[in-house]
Amino acid sequence: MMPARSSRYAIQKRVLVTGGAGFIGSHLCAWLIEAGHSVLCVDNFFTGTRANIAPLLDNPNFELLRHDITFPLYVEVDEIYNLACPASPVHYQFDPVQTTKTSVLGAVNMLGLAKRLRIPILQASTSEVYGDPSVHPQPEDYWGNVNPIGPRSCYDEGKRCAETLFFDYHRQHNLAIKVVRIFNTYGPHMHPNDGRVVSNFIVQALRGEDITIYGDGHQTRSFCYVDDLVRGLIAMMATGNDVTGPVNIGNCGEFTMLQLAEQVIALTGSPSQICFKPLPVDDPKQRQPRTDRARAVLDWEAKVPLREGLAETIRYFAEVLGADVPADPASGMPAQQTRPGATVSAGGSA
Ligand SMILES: NC(=O)c1ccc[n+]([C@@H]2O[C@H](COP(=O)([O-])OP(=O)(O)OC[C@H]3O[C@@H](n4cnc5c(N)ncnc54)[C@H](O)[C@@H]3O)[C@@H](O)[C@H]2O)c1
Repeated sequence: MMPARSSRYAIQKRVLVTGGAGFIGSHLCAWLIEAGHSVLCVDNFFTGTRANIAPLLDNPNFELLRHDITFPLYVEVDEIYNLACPASPVHYQFDPVQTTKTSVLGAVNMLGLAKRLRIPILQASTSEVYGDPSVHPQPEDYWGNVNPIGPRSCYDEGKRCAETLFFDYHRQHNLAIKVVRIFNTYGPHMHPNDGRVVSNFIVQALRGEDITIYGDGHQTRSFCYVDDLVRGLIAMMATGNDVTGPVNIGNCGEFTMLQLAEQVIALTGSPSQICFKPLPVDDPKQRQPRTDRARAVLDWEAKVPLREGLAETIRYFAEVLGADVPADPASGMPAQQTRPGATVSAGGSA
């Protein structure tokens, strides 16, 4: 079962969520609405979809604004969650200059808004600021090992620069900042064709295609279910002005790509085989958060086991793809039938 929603804040706030139509943003908007707040979702729909926020569109506490955060925004709100930025390599490498602009100019614009309104602002940073880490697992005081000129740099360095801006606004203007470094997150509303490992494996398994592993499959990742992450973001925003972060939010459970592929095959009951391809450039070999700080400062830790989160995610993708899966994927019962060749629209998640 998914964790219970966060308790209600005492006062209704008007909360700006940039990137609110994306994978994580859409869950955050839903949680905030459910907690009794009013949400202004700002998105340019580069990777986000209306389908992700469809259940919220008729809610009187939800407002949607199509806007690109590389341009200034003048609105009246009480808090800002800055999530706007494509997060998967296929999307952020599509227009790398725009990716850096979104991180850097977007941060300047949102920080400027927070400064004018004197309100707290949370930055969705990333474990990618650690690059290909030489320290394992990664604590927040590790400075990272990032290539400044590679194909991933538009994202990694953009996010690093955004963190710099957040801390300079804090030091220079005493702004209440909250920097969260998000590790690999998965769940419903992920893009079916974004090339990320969880969505890739599930979509391939549901279509009965070979499951592609890049490298030998022994590289590891940790996977955080989206409900756990959103709980962490909300807890971080609720901290006092003295808490700036950075705080790692991620699940410490470490799995090899082979283990992940095997779990997906078992949960979908798919006849898929595993095939191996060469590793892409700059792909980190190991990534695992140290979450002692999140535990100490936020009283937060990941709760949803991989198997349960995968089962929820498989249910979602099965619906998107029109594929049949076991009634209870977590039971590992064989699938009745998958529909090879089911297609999904580019960038659409429903
Ligand atoms: N998903 C993860 O595992 C993960 C890991 C680390 C960090 N993050 C961070 O969390 C945030 C959300 O990630 P996600 O996985 O939901 O990605 P996503 O691509 O699903 O969502 C990003 C959203 O931002 C919007 N957007 C992009 N550029 C914009 C712009 N210039 N102006 C306005 N909107 C814009 C997109 O349309 C989309 O709705 C991102 O900042 C990402 O870097 C995610």
